[in-house]
Amino acid sequence: MATFNLNGKTVTADVESDTPLLWVIRDELGFTGTKFGCGIGTCGACTVHVGGRATRSCITPVVAVEGANITTIEGLSVDGDHPVQVAWQALQVPQCGYCQSGQIMQAASLLKDIPNPTDAEIDAVMSGNLCRCMTYVRIRQAIHDAAAATTQAEKENNNA
Ligand code: FES
Ligand code: FES
Repeated sequence: MATFNLNGKTVTADVESDTPLLWVIRDELGFTGTKFGCGIGTCGACTVHVGGRATRSCITPVVAVEGANITTIEGLSVDGDHPVQVAWQALQVPQCGYCQSGQIMQAASLLKDIPNPTDAEIDAVMSGNLCRCMTYVRIRQAIHDAAAATTQAEKENNNA
């Protein structure tokens, strides 16, 4: 049995303790926005936030997240209006879309750590998230746009 907080709600799943978090999220709890790519922690398609940190759910046994706060793409924002999601939509970043929830979760985590990242910082953090459709140029620009929008919103809030 595993119990943790998923997108703001306490959830329980009747699974073996070594079951990968990815399969609990997708198969037991029905949150299919998080994708399976490689299963060995090298593509990033399965990225979720555990305690606010980008985490590869395919190589995380569910026992390791007992009681933790987990966020998937479905819980990143209420209305799909996280600055990263807004920038992604404006630039039409996705192609096939398969890797994109992982990309967005990784990017959101990056911007928490580095609010205004350089190209090199973006590349360093995002290099573990693969995209076979080669959307990397738009991903990088969308991260810059999300950073700028967040900075602008903070300035407006401070002046209000
Ligand atoms: S499916 Fe988890 S890193 Fe590829
Ligand atoms: S958009 Fe197709 S794999 Fe990234």
